[in-house]
This record gives sequence, C-alpha cells and structure tokens, in this order.
Amino acid sequence: MNIAIVGATGNVGRKMLEVLEQKKLPIDQLYLVASPRSAGKKIKFNGKDCEVNNLETYDFSKAKITFFAAGGKIAEQYAEKASKCSTVIDLSSFFRMDKDVPLIVPQVNPFAIKNLKKNIIANPNCSTIQLVIVLKPLHDLFNIKRVVLSTYQSVSGGGKAPMDELIEQTKLSLNKKKIEPKNFTKQIAFNAIPHIDIFADDGYTKEELKMTNETKKILDNSIELTATCVRIPVLVSHSESVNIEFEKPFTLEKIRSSLNNADGCEVYDKRKDGGYITPLEAEGKKETYISRIREDKTKKNTLNLWIVSDNLLRGAALNAAEIAELLIKKNNG
Ligand SMILES: NC(=O)c1ccc[n+]([C@@H]2O[C@H](COP(=O)([O-])OP(=O)(O)OC[C@H]3O[C@@H](n4cnc5c(N)ncnc54)[C@H](OP(=O)(O)O)[C@@H]3O)[C@@H](O)[C@H]2O)c1
Repeated sequence: MNIAIVGATGNVGRKMLEVLEQKKLPIDQLYLVASPRSAGKKIKFNGKDCEVNNLETYDFSKAKITFFAAGGKIAEQYAEKASKCSTVIDLSSFFRMDKDVPLIVPQVNPFAIKNLKKNIIANPNCSTIQLVIVLKPLHDLFNIKRVVLSTYQSVSGGGKAPMDELIEQTKLSLNKKKIEPKNFTKQIAFNAIPHIDIFADDGYTKEELKMTNETKKILDNSIELTATCVRIPVLVSHSESVNIEFEKPFTLEKIRSSLNNADGCEVYDKRKDGGYITPLEAEGKKETYISRIREDKTKKNTLNLWIVSDNLLRGAALNAAEIAELLIKKNNG
C-alpha cells in the first residue's frame, strides 16, 4: 500500500514519519509532500532517503491514503481534489465539523468510520483528543453532565515556528534584549497567554469553541463544556485542569480503576511531592496521563483531574495513524 504525507517537513509530519516507522504498517511506497520551499529535500524513512515532492505538482492518485498535516488553508485548497483518488486523513480543523466527515478518536468513536461519505476523515484538535480519551470511560459509567476546563498548551501546538520563537525569546529575555513577538500576540517566554486561535464575537477563542464542539461530535452532544485555553512557555505536551460533573454518584476507586483500564490512559496520582505527571515527562509517550484525582467538595457528583499528553504524538500523529489502521481494517473486511 502506498501512503502520502502532505506537510511532511513540519512538526506533525515528522512525527507521522516516526509513528509510521514504529507501527510497521504495510507501506510499499511513502510519498512526502510539502511546499515548493522544501521540494527536493531528503528525509529518512526506515533508514532510506525519501525525496520531498512539491504539493503544486504532486499527483494524489499515487497513494491510497493521504495524510494532510499542512494547515487548514492547504486542506481547503487540496483535500477534496485528493479525496477523488485517495482517502484523506486531515489533521487541520477545516473539515472537523462537516456533517459528512467523521471526526475520529479510535479509542472513543471508531464506529464513526462507517460514515465515510466524502472519502475524508478528520483528526480532532490535540487538546480535544487527550480530553475525550479520558472522558469516555467516565461517561460510560457515570454520565457526564458538564465539564469546566482550563488548558496549559505548549507552543508546538502552533507549529515549528512558534517553538523556535520560544527558544529565541528565552535567550533574548535572559540577555535583557528587546522582544518583538512574531507568532504570538505578546511575549511568550516567562509568560502565559490566554489566547489561542482567533476570537469569536462572544469572547471565546476558536480553540475554546473547538473543544466544546468537537467533544460533542465525538462523544455526546448532550455534554456541556466550557473551556479557557492558555498558551504557556513549554515546548511539547498539553496539560488540562478539568472539572467534571456527573449525573450519577462515583467513588474515587472506580474512577481510578476505570481510567487505568481504559485504552491509552494511565493514572499516575501519588498524592505527594512529585506524584503527578508534568508536560516534560509526557513528551514522547503514547499515554494520556491522569493525576491529581480529587472529589470537588463544592458540588455533588463532581470530580477534579489533571490531564497531560504529548500533543504532537497522541494529539496528532498517533491518532491519525490509528485512524489509518481502522481504515485498513475496514477495507480488508
Ligand atoms: N502541532 C499540533 O499539536 C497539532 C495537533 C493536531 C493537529 N495539528 C495540525 O497539523 C497541521 C500541521 O501542524 P504543524 O504543527 O506540523 O505545523 P508546521 O510545523 O508549521 O508545519 C507545516 C507543514 O505544512 C507545510 N506547508 C506549509 N505551507 C505549505 C504550502 N503552501 N504547500 C505545501 N505545504 C505547505 C510545511 O511545508 P514547508 O516545510 O515546505 O514549509 C510543513 O510541512 C496543522 O493543520 C495543525 O492544525 C497540529
């Protein structure tokens, strides 16, 4: 089987290469595609050099599955054309709320793959993926009514350029030099910015609305969710402080055991110094970690959690590769 990655030179594209190597999918030929700036560059896959193709001249019929990891504008411009001859798995937000495009987290709603009307599958937002992986086993047991959350998101969520800028700003700041933000609205080094993606009229940002709408589409439309999304000066991994109100009463023992048994989740909650997972520790790991599990004593049937996961791996490349595995399974049988 032939596979293509559009955006292969970016953060997520390179992570896709790593994941595909590890998964040992039956790939005959891998096509790497990016902008004309990268055309002709060589990137290693399974020890061999692979040349990067120019998207403007690339022939989409070469691959059976095409991952799009090059942003919403490129998805808007090229994905429908590609879907005529290749199944598209798009990692941007462009198709996520399209009713004819399934939005899939394989641990949560694998059945949605049946609804493949446009030959396009959408990969959810990185903050949503790690959230719904944790909410799903809890919803099955205790019925979630409402979720209130704040995110602490790494700069890699915005791409490679913001990562480079955080490092550059940190050096400038330590040397007491002037900082002029490029990929952020304010200085990110030694700071926190309560603003990710564009503002909507009601004061929410698009990132916050994505979390609400995508959770409803993937898990359950009846769940109420309100989010505040914050960018922090961390390179990789997103963290979330989450308050969940259930319809049914729960015990902390049952919460812990159900999360520990859930695919993709791992509880690490020692209730002592260092007994929790931080973004640095989650980097490069497939698991979504749950720490600081506590009852919210101010409200009936309500729980507090701390959730951390690698946004480039679990929140993007790994989820997309697992969608491809679902697709291959569906096509084979
Ligand atoms: N980062 C995350 O945590 C995360 C999580 C989930 C989903 N996503 C989504 O994944 C996508 C990629 O994100 P990223 O973090 O990997 O961004 P990135 O590091 O900035 O990489 C962007 C990629 O898109 C390519 N590209 C840009 N303009 C292009 C053009 N005109 N024609 C062809 N290719 C072009 C770039 O190629 P060149 O190198 O040639 O410029 C590069 O390969 C976005 O849609 C993002 O929303 C990201």
